[in-house]
Amino acid sequence: MSRADFIDISDAFTQWLGFANAGMLNRGNLYCFDRAIANLPGDAPVVEIGSFAGLSTNLLVYYLRRHGRSNRLITCDRWEFEGARPGERIGESPVKFDAYRAFVRDSFLRNVRFFSGDRLPHTLEMSSDEFFAAWREQARATDVFGRMVTLGGPIGFCYIDGNHSYACARRDFENADAFLEPGGFILFDDSADGTAWEVCRVVAEVAADGRYELVTRNPNYLFRKR
Ligand SMILES: C[S@@+](CC[C@H](N)C(=O)[O-])C[C@H]1O[C@@H](n2cnc3c(N)ncnc32)[C@H](O)[C@@H]1O
Repeated sequence: MSRADFIDISDAFTQWLGFANAGMLNRGNLYCFDRAIANLPGDAPVVEIGSFAGLSTNLLVYYLRRHGRSNRLITCDRWEFEGARPGERIGESPVKFDAYRAFVRDSFLRNVRFFSGDRLPHTLEMSSDEFFAAWREQARATDVFGRMVTLGGPIGFCYIDGNHSYACARRDFENADAFLEPGGFILFDDSADGTAWEVCRVVAEVAADGRYELVTRNPNYLFRKR
């Protein structure tokens, strides 16, 4: 993709963060994060599904801080990666998938403590299905930093970047939709036109649904609930 294909609001912080914090983020998402957070309809939490090593988590905190928004950030990840084969070595290397998983989880904790220590998110070691079930029950849970958090209530912005299969991305959308307040945002990672991810089918369905306004494709799809 050439530079002109999406709006890139990278700045000094996002560049230095990206050097040190591994992740899989399209730089166009920065504009989407910024736009959603600047226009959050209220004080409801921001939710991230799929945190990996904390790159997008740290960026969400960055934009919350920049816009002076005190909304809580609540994220979930079980650190069970698509395509991983626990018990096996990765390629020709001596590294096993299990050790890789532990390394990425530790990296998440270290990266988020370092870059977002002033306002740590609540990160739950749960799949998104487990997370939304707990959200529905308004459960109390302990986050990966050892702090208690009460889940439930409206959501202001949901960033969906977990399992990219159609079934999972669709369920993540339906679960987020159930709690998203009017005027709230959903951003689907890996949903750009011309890509082969199954999440593109979910995005087409949301676009046709009528209950959501397409805010931007940059190149991933950002929607706002009417
Ligand atoms: C593409 S990575 C996320 C990248 C991260 N958002 C970033 O920008 O740095 C996908 C993550 O989703 C997590 N994941 C996979 N299936 C999931 C599920 N069902 N629920 C929650 N997280 C899931 C994986 O463990 C992985 O860390």
